[in-house]
Amino acid sequence: MRRHSAVLLTITIIPFLFALPAVCQEDMVVVAGDSFEVQRRPSAVFRHDDHNKTAEIEECNECHHVYESGERITDESSEDQRCADCHTEKSAGNRPGLRKAFHLNCKGCHQSKKQGPVMCGECHARRAVNSE
Ligand code: HEC
Ligand code: HEC
Ligand code: HEC
Ligand code: HEC
Repeated sequence: MRRHSAVLLTITIIPFLFALPAVCQEDMVVVAGDSFEVQRRPSAVFRHDDHNKTAEIEECNECHHVYESGERITDESSEDQRCADCHTEKSAGNRPGLRKAFHLNCKGCHQSKKQGPVMCGECHARRAVNSE
């Protein structure tokens, strides 16, 4: 009886485990602030897939980049890593610290395109959605 339910549990769970990575990104509505030791602001609004479609960003490595000795590798991307895997809170050489990396990436593009939010409260908005 016990064993039977364990098998059943495994069978029901496995498909969900495989579906997880795809679901995450589709459901992503904020950039989680959990990479920071202390989080002072609400997590920034970022509806990953919708954002990138509307903003017409075709290349994943526009954000998920890979560098090799200071050169950006155009045909490689790092979406399997978090920004914090490479960007520590403090900057290191040419590698901006984590907060600066986000701000340069997000705000930098919005400023140069004159589209998208540039005010603190527009990105770090308090709201009802699950921002954890
Ligand atoms: C275009 C969107 C955007 C704007 C505008 C923006 N931020 Fe951020 N900020 C982010 C993202 C993305 C992160 C990293 C993940 C997170 O905290 O959601 C971040 C992280 C931070 C962090 C570190 C994490 C924390 O919560 O302590 C601070 C502090 C911060 N921002 C403050 C500000 C302030 C102050 C302004 C206005 C001067 C501002 N931000 C404007 C997107 C933005
Ligand atoms: C405009 C910038 C941007 C673009 C373009 C972009 N991403 Fe992301 N993506 C992010 C940010 C920011 C995160 C959160 C990273 C972190 O928390 O350290 C993220 C997270 C992810 C995650 C992890 C999801 C999760 O819930 O943990 C996956 C998978 C991903 N992106 C895949 C992709 C793929 C595939 C593409 C291209 C089709 C792409 N991204 C394009 C910014 C971008
Ligand atoms: C695999 C490691 C790695 C990952 C993951 C990574 N970065 Fe970087 N990033 C670097 C390195 C290395 C540099 C310094 C490049 C140089 O030498 O000029 C850099 C530079 C930057 C810069 C300044 C130069 C530029 O391209 O504008 C920004 C902004 C930045 N990263 C944002 C991000 C964001 C946002 C994420 C997550 C979506 C991210 N990075 C993920 C390694 C990484
Ligand atoms: C390569 C350019 C580019 C980058 C990088 C980028 N954005 Fe945007 N973003 C845009 C453009 C263009 C728009 C306006 C699109 C529209 O709504 O018409 C926009 C709109 C937005 C909006 C308002 C519309 C919406 O989707 O809610 C938010 C919020 C936003 N961006 C957050 C972010 C955050 C957070 C990051 C960094 C993780 C980021 N963006 C990185 C280009 C960019």
